[in-house]
Amino acid sequence: MATIVLALGGSLLRPEIEERHSWIESIISIIRDRVAADDRIGIVVGGGAPAREGISLARPIIDNEDRLDRIGIAATRLNATIVREALADAGVMVSGSIPHSINEASMLFDERPVVVMGGTIPGHTTDAVAIRLAIMTGAERCIIGTNVKQVYDSDPHNNPDAQSYDKLTHKELQEIVGPAEHDAAGPSGVIDPMGVADAAKVNLTLNVLDGRNPELIRAAIEGSSFSGTIIESEEE
Ligand code: UTP
Repeated sequence: MATIVLALGGSLLRPEIEERHSWIESIISIIRDRVAADDRIGIVVGGGAPAREGISLARPIIDNEDRLDRIGIAATRLNATIVREALADAGVMVSGSIPHSINEASMLFDERPVVVMGGTIPGHTTDAVAIRLAIMTGAERCIIGTNVKQVYDSDPHNNPDAQSYDKLTHKELQEIVGPAEHDAAGPSGVIDPMGVADAAKVNLTLNVLDGRNPELIRAAIEGSSFSGTIIESEEE
């Protein structure tokens, strides 16, 4: 039995395509297959569009990053609820509630093999939550589904010459994402530097991939080779 944690960026849930529901259906099928193979899967969902909308609506009137973070957290919990309800409706053995903390999430694994959550407290993003959940539950690795194909040395949406990587050490990734600080509520880089720092401390393997393509998520979750970036320590 393997434990794997999957971080799904909130932007994946509400793509600009017509068949919006088909992505969620694919995720449900992947999770169902892993439960049948006796795996435990933690899913941490990001805030995406409702987080951006809520934070930008409130920013002109609320001058406090923790308060804005809490608006972001509410959006992550909304998105997590969509994923949890969809899994439950499809008959997948998913926890009955959305936990508010990593501790609570890890206890819910005693009841069901699938736990879905969003954010927890201000000061980081759901990448960091996923990485901490992976560490606490002794997960083999943490898969981070994002909306870029790999980790790049700068944002490929802004820089067409950005260089991408198939493999990185934790140290190299730390140099790319920068110091472990949470500057402001709202959009951040490819992976939360606070989470990267935690992963580096315990050499947790990270798989970063384009979560828009569910087949990549399937391959990574099964432990097959996938197109993306693998972050592991040099010794491995
Ligand atoms: P996301 O995890 O979606 O972060 O949380 P993000 O970087 O903005 O979005 P992605 O990863 O590119 O999809 C949305 C916001 O909610 C707050 C932060 O303000 C974050 O930017 N948040 C989230 C927290 O304060 N704590 C959490 O545990 C999670």
